[in-house]
Amino acid sequence: MTRIRTAAHVLAAVAALSFPWATADAREALFAVESPDGRLVVDLGTDDAGAPVWAVRFGDETVIERSRLGLRFRDRRGLDAGFDIAGRTRTKGDEEWEQPWGERRVVRDLYNDLLVSYRAREEGGPVFSIRVRVYDDGVGLRYEVPDQPGWQQLEIVDELTEFRIPEKSTAWWIPGRGWNRYEFLYRTGDRDEIDTAHTPVTFRLPSGVHLSVHEAALVDYAAFVLDQRRPGVFQTDLTPWSDGIRVRTGAPFETPWRTVQVADSAVGLLNSDLILNLNEPNELGDVSWVRPGKYVGVWWAMHINQRTWGSGDKHGATTAEAMRYIDFAADNGFIGVLVEGWNVGWDGDWFHNGDVFNFTTPYPDFDLPRVARYAVEKGVRLIGHHETSGNVTNYESQMGDALDLYESLGVDSIKTGYVADGSDIKRVDDNGVAHYEWHDGQFMVRHYLHNVREAAKRRISINTHEPVKDTGLRRTYPNWVSREGARGMEFNAWGSPPNPPEHTAILPYTRLLSGPMDFTPGIFDLMPNGPDDENRVQTTLAKQLALYVVIYSPIQMAADLPENYEARPDAFQFIKDVPTDWEESIALAGEVGDFVAFARRERGGADWYVGALTDEAPRKLSLALDFLDADGDYVAQIYRDGDDAHWRDNPYSIRIEERSVDAGDALELVLAAGGGAAVRIVKNN
Ligand code: NOJ
Ligand code: CA
Repeated sequence: MTRIRTAAHVLAAVAALSFPWATADAREALFAVESPDGRLVVDLGTDDAGAPVWAVRFGDETVIERSRLGLRFRDRRGLDAGFDIAGRTRTKGDEEWEQPWGERRVVRDLYNDLLVSYRAREEGGPVFSIRVRVYDDGVGLRYEVPDQPGWQQLEIVDELTEFRIPEKSTAWWIPGRGWNRYEFLYRTGDRDEIDTAHTPVTFRLPSGVHLSVHEAALVDYAAFVLDQRRPGVFQTDLTPWSDGIRVRTGAPFETPWRTVQVADSAVGLLNSDLILNLNEPNELGDVSWVRPGKYVGVWWAMHINQRTWGSGDKHGATTAEAMRYIDFAADNGFIGVLVEGWNVGWDGDWFHNGDVFNFTTPYPDFDLPRVARYAVEKGVRLIGHHETSGNVTNYESQMGDALDLYESLGVDSIKTGYVADGSDIKRVDDNGVAHYEWHDGQFMVRHYLHNVREAAKRRISINTHEPVKDTGLRRTYPNWVSREGARGMEFNAWGSPPNPPEHTAILPYTRLLSGPMDFTPGIFDLMPNGPDDENRVQTTLAKQLALYVVIYSPIQMAADLPENYEARPDAFQFIKDVPTDWEESIALAGEVGDFVAFARRERGGADWYVGALTDEAPRKLSLALDFLDADGDYVAQIYRDGDDAHWRDNPYSIRIEERSVDAGDALELVLAAGGGAAVRIVKNN
């Protein structure tokens, strides 16, 4: 051997000596597990280098091509290659469980489970397992690392889980690791256009099969974004701490579930319960204190610049204004009134001033105890507000007192906010040194859940704005009632551009697959800044009503000003009638980015509600009413676009009509450009 043939050859020789198996024992081993209906099949095992791999088949089609798996750590051997399969365990599950509130009361949890255990090929090396759970509507996969000597403190530097998506697939996605967190317009395009994307990401394969890649039960771990490493190869890129470590953990631990929902059509994705089924059952016990319902608030007035969060002449959170909203809420059946800008800290540049928020001191013109008491007297509750501007240490240092204060006043739900750019969440360590974190890194995953658990101790529900993405934790913590995590209505007040008509035709197939969204629908004055302003609501009036059925959330805001509802009592009637809690929900029709139609039956009732909406294209839908009771007589109250309606030119044209229907009928709906329809179907017998 000459001196020039050094490093690589020496390393190769050493490797061959210490790892003789690399050539001698090379073999792949794959085990299949099927969904209960047999259509979906996951293959899990090792490739010939002893690296864990998986693939997903749906009928005759490979929907996730052979993809690698594994974890890498700082300063220790990875769980990535050089493993033999030490064992396999197969189990099945079939049970029904009830949601305390939700889009359906009863959920069926039916799956086949395969646990594959891996043992390092070298003497004394680590062991771990990978579990796959295969449902008719998708699959979950997670790593399970048992306790073993020397593995008590771990720093994960990379997760290798890949999803290889077939070529020529179309994707709907928002960019990952961006400054605006999840609040980007969705992009529609070829798979190859993705750089990194937040999940859920939705793909339509050339065959028409639809996939959604996401995760479930994200607890004490980092969220991942999908990183397209090579064409079609999407890797879980875990969001790092500010020092670059992705996850701090120790054996034993389990990762969140990596999920793929699979359906023949776009609508199939909407009827999936996979994410909820992969979460742990309710840990809070009796949660009858969590109250679904509709609310109003001193909110839109700030977004359209009529009022301010900060103090002064235009201050929105005054005692008088809060009481005006409470009266309106009590008169119209709303359960709560949100008041933002009530506490000291909003003056000046509140976006960048999170250090000065005080969560127990109201402004002098807001008599907090009086407002809270007045609400209770009127049968309404004040909804609390904690905007942190991303200074989480400042918030955490006051959180106990702040929650105690609200609890003592009978406030049973709080909207939280974390307005800060991506990677600009301020964490101050014990030495007083500031660090800047992502909204979806492990630090914030811990914080959001800490907030929810502390609130639960006081029987308070949480609605998180600027959250980490939803991964179904509402099953385990039913007081985590909703969150934002996408572009909501506020963008129509000041966003550039505002939400285009297709936005709400994409959300159901993407963001909403992860869980409820506090979108804050129901704007009736569609041009609050005048007709020539770029910022206007790009929908018809009827489509605003449709949003209450299409966008699922147990709490729904009627976001506009009371006077704008009082000006249109006919249309407002639908908002008064529509429930927010459901016995069952059925997605009836739709295509991603084009249109969608849902039917939902009121929790504990016989009445159905249908919501349908379209993008910028007008369209006709014919929806079979075969979900109604076969022998029932119903009256449909239909709120639809007028024949001449158009989101831009004639958005207020609405027709409200009634007709008798039964299960044999079809509902013919004509949706205007940017339009929609909302239907209440009342059972008479
Ligand atoms: C952003 C939230 O999404 C919005 O609803 C709220 O009004 C502002 N932050 C202020 O907290
Ligand atoms: Ca927001």
